Amino acid sequence: MIRRERLIARARQGYRLAFGTQGESPRRFFAAPGRVNLIGEHVDYNEGFVLPCAINRETVVAIQAGPEVGGQGYIEAVAIDFGQNRDKIALYEPIARSDSSWQNLLRGVVVALQKRGHEVLPARLAITGDVPIGAGLSSSASFAVVVALALAYLSRIQVSKAELALVAQEAENDFLGTKCGIMDQMASALGASDAALLLDCRSGQSMPIAVSSELALVVADTGIRRELVTSAFNERRAQCEAAAKHFNVRALRDLSARALEAGRRDLDATLYKRARHVVSEIARVEPTAVALNQGDTAAIARLFAESHTSLREDYEVTVPEVDRLVGTIGAALSAGDTPLGGVRMTGAGFGGCVVAVVRKSAADLVLEAVHDTYNADADTPASAAIYSMVGGASDISPQRPSSLPTS
Ligand code: GLA
Repeated sequence: MIRRERLIARARQGYRLAFGTQGESPRRFFAAPGRVNLIGEHVDYNEGFVLPCAINRETVVAIQAGPEVGGQGYIEAVAIDFGQNRDKIALYEPIARSDSSWQNLLRGVVVALQKRGHEVLPARLAITGDVPIGAGLSSSASFAVVVALALAYLSRIQVSKAELALVAQEAENDFLGTKCGIMDQMASALGASDAALLLDCRSGQSMPIAVSSELALVVADTGIRRELVTSAFNERRAQCEAAAKHFNVRALRDLSARALEAGRRDLDATLYKRARHVVSEIARVEPTAVALNQGDTAAIARLFAESHTSLREDYEVTVPEVDRLVGTIGAALSAGDTPLGGVRMTGAGFGGCVVAVVRKSAADLVLEAVHDTYNADADTPASAAIYSMVGGASDISPQRPSSLPTS
C-alpha cells in the first residue's frame, strides 16, 4: 500500500499547489485501477464476452467542493502528471471539447452525468496516477471512472459502479472520439481481487472468476506506441459492423462459426478475417476462464497462442515487436514438457503490452526472457513487471468521516 499512500500524498500536494490559499486541504480521495485483458480481445464492441482483470496501478483523485461565483459554478481540475495542467469548466453553460485528452475525458464525464439528468456540483479535483499511459493498460478508462466516481460522490448522485463505467465510456466515445467498447471501464469499476471479471458486453452482467493462487500475472511493455491508433481502432469496429450487416445479425456475437463459413461468399476477404477473429475469440473466453480457475497452464498456453495468432493474422493489430516479444516469452515457457503458462498481446494492439499468465515459479523466467533475450536485440527496450489483480474503483480516503457531509 506504500504505492497508494504515495499517490494520495501526491494528489494532496498537487491540490494544495493548484488551489492553495483558496482551497482547503482535500479530505476525500478516490481511486480506479487500470486493467489487463486476459482474453476476449476486440470482442466487447461486438457484444461478446471478455475476461479482463483490474491491476494494482491506478488513477487517484483528491476532491473537495468548489465555490460558486456570481451564480456560476465551476469544475476546476489539475492533472498533476501533465505538468500541473489545469482546466476550468463552467457548469451552467454548454461544455465544449478541448484539444487536450485529459480535459476531454473530464469534460465528457461531466456532460455524460448531466445528460442523465444529474446535477453536477462545483468541485475542485487534483488527479494523479501510476497507470502507464498509452501502453494498453487503460489509463484513460481509469481516469474517467475515478473522475465519475468522485464527482458522483461529491454531487450526491446515486449511481451503480456499472453506470459509472457507462458514463466513462460515453466520455471517451463522445469527447475523445474513440469508439471503444465497455470492457476497460467495467474492469476498472468492478474488478475483484485475485480474480478476473467475466463480462457479458451485451447484457452488462459480470461475474468474478477466481484465478488459481498458483498463477502469476506478468505484463511486458514493448514501449512501442503507434500513431493513429484511434483511427485504426475505429476502422476495425466499422469493419465488424459491416460484417454483421452482411450476415444480417445484430452483432458478430450472434454469428456461429458454421454460419460464418456458410455465408462467406460475396463477403470481402478482409471483413471475413475480421469476423473470423471475433467469432473464434469469443469461443476462447469461457475455456480460458475455466483454465485460469483451475491453474491449467497447458490450456492457457494453447488458448493464448490461438488468440495471439488470430489477432496477428486475422485482426492485424499486432506489430513486429509485440510478435517477437510474445515469441520470446512463449519459447521460454514451453521449453519443458508441459507449458508453464501462456502469453499474448493485450489491449487494442498497435504496440503496447503483452500479458503472460504463468506458474508462480515461472514468473522470473518471463522477466529474464524480456530483459536478457528480447532486450539483447531490441532498439526500444521492453520493461516487465509482475502485477496483482485488485478490486475496482473505490473511496480510499484516509480516516473516513463517519457520515456524509451535509451541504
Ligand atoms: C481498447 C478498447 C476496449 C477494447 C480493447 C480491445 O482497450 O478501449 O473497449 O475494444 O481495446 O479488446
